[in-house]
Order: sequence, then structure tokens, then C-alpha cells
Amino acid sequence: MIYKRLNYSILVLLFTFSVSALFAQDQAAVEAGKTLFKNNCASCHNKNMKDKLTGPALAGTEDRWSEFPPADLYTWIRNSQSLVSKGHPRAVAIFNEFNKLPMTAFPSLSDGDIANILAYINCTAAGNCPGDPPPPPPGGDIAVTGADTGNNNLLYVFLFLILALLAVILARIISNLNHIAAVKEFGADAPARKTLAEILSSKGVISFAIFAAVLFGGYYTVRNSINLGRQQGYQPEQPIKFSHTTHAGVHKIDCQYCHDGARRSKHSVIPAANTCMNCHKAIKVGSTYGTAELTKIYASIGFDPKGDTLIKNYDQLTDKEIEAIYKGWISENYIKEKNMMDAEGEALLASQWDGIVAALTDKKTGDTKIQGPIEWTRIHNLPDHVYFDHSQHVTVGKVACQSCHGKVEEMDEVKQYAPLSMGWCINCHRETEVKFADNKYYDNYYEMYHEQIKNRQRDKVTVEDIGGTECQKCHY
Ligand code: HEC
Ligand code: HEC
Ligand code: HEC
Ligand code: HEC
Ligand code: HEC
Ligand code: HEC
Repeated sequence: MIYKRLNYSILVLLFTFSVSALFAQDQAAVEAGKTLFKNNCASCHNKNMKDKLTGPALAGTEDRWSEFPPADLYTWIRNSQSLVSKGHPRAVAIFNEFNKLPMTAFPSLSDGDIANILAYINCTAAGNCPGDPPPPPPGGDIAVTGADTGNNNLLYVFLFLILALLAVILARIISNLNHIAAVKEFGADAPARKTLAEILSSKGVISFAIFAAVLFGGYYTVRNSINLGRQQGYQPEQPIKFSHTTHAGVHKIDCQYCHDGARRSKHSVIPAANTCMNCHKAIKVGSTYGTAELTKIYASIGFDPKGDTLIKNYDQLTDKEIEAIYKGWISENYIKEKNMMDAEGEALLASQWDGIVAALTDKKTGDTKIQGPIEWTRIHNLPDHVYFDHSQHVTVGKVACQSCHGKVEEMDEVKQYAPLSMGWCINCHRETEVKFADNKYYDNYYEMYHEQIKNRQRDKVTVEDIGGTECQKCHY
């Protein structure tokens, strides 16, 4: 009878374990697929899976390939041209639909890789990927608690349930064993075996439950209040697909060419559209997005890319007039490429115009004017009570941008790399030696510390030594 119950419990346990294992496995696959997609596919396929970019929207891909053996789709992704040359019906159809634009071959992707990418495509299209962070509230002042905490909670619940189940099972076993022992010893006089309800309502169990609740509650309250306002890993989508990989990485444009505030002021400053125009007056059609993204810059400041002039009285034009100017530019380019305007061109025109309107207007503030600055979403944001100055670090301290912002030149979309917590600032101040040599800002300190170093009273000077951990240096 004990054994029967045990068997049953083991079954329940196994079931719970396998459900949670499956869940974790699923999530790992989708995460891997996401990375592969970003690195290999996102330059041509929209990551929302629903809109066209250079290549088709990938939502529903597996359905469209369902009448062929699954291996065909895998072959397509590894080398699409091999299928096209064999006359595979789906391959030929989609190849022609996209004007015979060949897709890059990916011979190095394994079956597992491709399965992961497809899993990521499917769940993104359906909007139910495991581990999706909850959507951040729109706009600048964001309080996202570490983007990866959302799904962990589910795991914690699973773990908790498993532990609870184990506890109940153990309690039952102990009680049964006690009973057996008692029956052996006292025979029929043995005290009645405790029922489950009796065990659960005993003093010990109740006080344990209260203790656990207080512990958990306290832990979560403290953790959440520490994370409040922190947003490490925050990577919002920006109104223009501006890529640091393209600009700072491939084309090696110096960070301070655009963020020229970093050298001389508190703020690094996001460049104005005029800085972009230094180059994009000439580069008007991009190799990745064509007219879709660059036209947004022109519409924000009223640059007419057809005549290479600034439009007079741009702020007095109606939305219809503005629409005509930029749709004219987009369709001119389309016709130049395809020799005609067709249904696909009309669709492209409509979607690019919608993109421009979305990038330049701001639903949150009710701003519907198409002219005006590009509304970049702010990523880094220290609380108001903290004083931080870029020039102090960049010019005086000679700290590289990458020490605090990570490898921005490899980010297509900027992501907050550091936690921006007080501990993060202080740790670096404790560890970093001040760079005295050839640094006119340190002349005063230099004399003082030089003596001490010469007399072997100290072997190095850190930022902490010159006051970098005093509260009022960082707090107003
Ligand atoms: C250089 C741009 C480019 C890249 C990079 C790219 N694709 Fe494509 N993809 C296309 C184009 C263009 C098509 C349309 C067919 C054609 O013209 O060859 C396409 C078609 C497809 C199709 C067929 C869709 C259908 O409905 O039949 C799939 C699936 C696909 N791509 C998956 C991928 C995956 C997965 C990756 C990354 C591993 C990727 N693509 C990377 C350009 C690209
Ligand atoms: C061609 C101009 C340009 C260059 C060069 C450039 N950036 Fe940027 N940077 C921008 C624009 C525009 C944004 C705002 C859009 C975005 O976040 O992608 C930005 C955003 C950022 C942000 C996020 C700001 C925030 O909202 O918190 C950081 C950090 C940053 N850049 C660092 C760098 C570093 C480091 C380099 C050099 C490796 C660099 N940038 C080079 C134009 C540039
Ligand atoms: C110093 C020159 C320079 C500056 C300044 C510059 N860009 Fe670029 N940008 C380039 C080059 C070069 C390319 C690559 C063009 C290509 O691949 O077709 C590019 C590509 C782009 C693209 C991708 C276009 C596509 O469809 O492939 C976008 C979007 C873009 N830039 C936006 C901006 C914005 C916004 C700014 C201002 C914050 C800016 N750029 C400033 C040189 C510059
Ligand atoms: C010592 C660390 C550190 C270094 C070095 C650093 N930054 Fe920052 N950066 C920060 C912090 C912290 C913020 C957030 C500031 C705020 O919210 O007031 C920030 C914000 C930014 C922003 C957003 C706009 C702003 O000024 O608030 C940009 C852009 C930026 N940094 C670019 C750069 C560039 C480019 C460099 C190198 C020339 C650089 N940073 C060097 C820590 C650093
Ligand atoms: C990567 C290392 C690093 C990080 C991270 C860092 N700092 Fe610094 N900080 C330095 C260096 C180096 C100096 C020395 C420059 C100087 O002497 O002015 C400095 C100096 C300062 C000073 C001037 C101290 C003085 O004695 O005048 C202040 C204020 C400051 N940092 C604030 C901050 C804040 C706020 C943060 C976090 C948001 C931060 N720092 C993060 C490296 C760092
Ligand atoms: C090197 C810079 C620096 C120094 C020195 C510094 N702080 Fe902070 N402090 C910060 C930053 C950055 C934050 C914001 C942390 C966050 O948002 O998580 C902060 C936050 C705080 C907060 C708000 C609670 C919190 O964690 O958000 C308090 C209180 C505080 N500091 C007190 C102090 C006291 C007291 C001292 C002196 C012993 C001190 N700080 C020294 C950078 C500093």
C-alpha cells in the first residue's frame, strides 16, 4: 500500500520534472535561434517576421513549405540556389517573386541551428516566445527590472511546487513508517495514524509556512527595490534602423564625430540630423533598406533628395504636400530599379511612408507633425540625484567608451551594457589607477603623490585616493 502510493508520487514528480525540463529546453532553443537569426538573417528579413524587408516576411514559412519534405526547407536555408537550379517549385516561385535576388548561402548551419531559427521564427510570429521580456513602457523614463527576470519567476514557481510536493511525500512516508513501527510495538493499541489534513494543520507546518512567506516576501521586496530604475540589457527598437556596426564598426567613424559632447561636457549628446547629413546628403539610397530608412532623416529636416536642396517653408507645408514629396522620391527610385510601378511598388510606397510617419510623430505626446527631430528612445538614464560627467571620464580620466558601454561598434542596436549601479561606479573608482603621465589636469596631485611614491609610501594612486568615493562627488 505504501509502495503503491510511492509509485504514484514518483510518477507525479517525474511528470513535473519533465515539464519543467522541456520548458527550459524550449527556451534555450529559441534563445539560440534568436542569436543565429540576428547574426545571419536580420539584415534581410524583418525581425518582426510580419513585414517584408529585402527578403520576405518569414511568418508561416513552414506552412508554405509543408507540401514538401522538411529537408527541402533546410536545404533552401543552407543554399537556396541549389534548389532553384533544380527547379523546386516553391524555391522558383519565391525567387521570382523577389526579382531573382539570391539569398546568401549558409552552408555552415547545422540541422539543429536551423531548427532553432525556425522555432524562433514561429514563436515570434505567434508572439509567444518563452523568455520574452515584458514590453517596456514606452518613452524615456523606463523602469524595467532586469530584462531577463520575467520567465525566471515561472521556473521558481515550478521549483517551489516540486519542493512542496517532496515535502508532502516525505511527511507521508515518515508518518507511515512511524505508524508501522507503532503497530509493531503496541499492536492494536497503536495511536491512530495522522491524516494528511492533520499533518498540514499541525503547529510546526503552519509556523514553517509563515516563516517561508516572510522570507520570500522580504527577499522579493528588497530585490525589486534595488532593481527599481535599473535596466541593464535594455535594448529598445529605435525609430530609424541606425546601426553602430555599420557606422562605427565597418566604416570606422570615430565615436566622437557624432557624440562630440563626450569630450567637453557632461553629456555625450545624440547627434542631430545635420550630422547625419554630412554623409547622407550624398548616400541617399542604402544598400540594406533602400529608401526606407534614410528618407526618414530627410523628412525630419525637410531635405528634398531629388533636388538636393532644403525645402523652403517646410514647416508650413501640409502633411499631404510632404507625403507627395517623399512618396515621389521613393517611387522614382523604385521605377529606376524595376522600370515600372506595380502592385508591389505601391505596397512598398505605402509601407515606407507609414514608417516615416511612425518615426517622426509621437503618439505618447500626441505630436502628429511630420517635421521635427527624430525621437530616439533614450537607453542610459541615471537617477536625478546622481552626478555623472562624460568629459571628466573621457578627457581627464582617459577612460575608453567601451569600458562603460561595451563593444558598441558591434551592436546593430545599442544595448545598455553596464548596470549603472552605485556599486559599479565605486568598484571602478577603487580599481582604476589615475593616469597621471602627461595629463595637465593632474599637476597638483602629481607633486603630492609623486613624493609618496618616491618614498615608497604607496605604489599606486586610484580614483578613490583622489576622492572618487566621497558621497558628495556623485550626489548633489
Ligand atoms: C542577403 C539577404 C538575405 C539574407 C542574409 C537571408 N535571406 Fe532569406 N531570403 C532573402 C530573399 C531575397 C528571399 C526571397 C527568395 C529569393 O529571392 O532568393 C529569401 C527567402 C527566404 C525564405 C523562403 C521564404 C518562403 O516564404 O518561401 C526563407 C525560409 C528564408 N529566406 C530564411 C532565411 C534565413 C533563416 C536566413 C538566415 C540564416 C536568411 N533567410 C538570410 C534574402 C536573404
Ligand atoms: C554616425 C554617428 C554615430 C557614431 C559614429 C557613433 N554613434 Fe553612438 N549613437 C548615434 C545615434 C544616432 C544614437 C541614437 C540611436 C541609437 O541608440 O542607436 C546613438 C546612441 C548611442 C548610445 C546610447 C545612448 C542612449 O540613449 O543611452 C551609446 C552608448 C553610443 N551611441 C555610444 C557610441 C560609441 C561608444 C561609439 C563609438 C564606438 C558611437 N556611439 C559611435 C550615432 C553615432
Ligand atoms: C561619416 C559618414 C556618415 C555619417 C555622419 C552618418 N552615416 Fe549613415 N551611413 C554611412 C555609410 C557609409 C553607410 C552605408 C551605406 C550603404 O551601405 O549603403 C550608412 C548607412 C546608414 C543607414 C542604412 C541605410 C541602408 O539602407 O543600408 C542608415 C539608416 C543610416 N546610415 C543612418 C544614419 C543616421 C541616422 C545618421 C546620423 C545620426 C548617419 N547615418 C550618419 C555614413 C554615414
Ligand atoms: C565612466 C563610464 C563612461 C564612459 C567612459 C563613457 N560613458 Fe557614456 N554614459 C555613461 C553613463 C553613466 C551614462 C548615463 C548618463 C546619464 O544618465 O546622465 C552615459 C550616457 C551616454 C549617452 C547617452 C546620452 C547622454 O550623454 O546621457 C551616450 C550617447 C554616451 N554615453 C556615449 C558615450 C561615448 C561616445 C563615450 C566615449 C567617448 C562614452 N559615452 C564614455 C558612462 C560612460
Ligand atoms: C571604467 C571605470 C569608471 C567607471 C565605471 C566610473 N568611473 Fe568615475 N572616474 C573614473 C576615473 C578614471 C576617474 C578619474 C578622472 C578624474 O580624476 O577626474 C573618475 C572620476 C569621477 C569623478 C570625479 C572624482 C573627483 O575626485 O573629482 C566623479 C564625480 C565620477 N567619476 C562619477 C562617476 C559615476 C557617478 C559613475 C557611475 C555612474 C562613475 N564615475 C563610473 C573611472 C570610472
Ligand atoms: C562614484 C559615484 C558614487 C559615489 C561616490 C556615491 N554614490 Fe550613491 N549612488 C551612485 C549611483 C550611480 C546611484 C544610483 C544607483 C541606481 O540607480 O541603482 C547611487 C544611489 C545612491 C542612493 C539611492 C539608493 C540606491 O541604491 O539607488 C543612496 C541612498 C546613495 N547612493 C548614497 C550614497 C552615500 C551615502 C555615499 C557616500 C558613502 C554615496 N552614495 C557615494 C553613485 C555614487
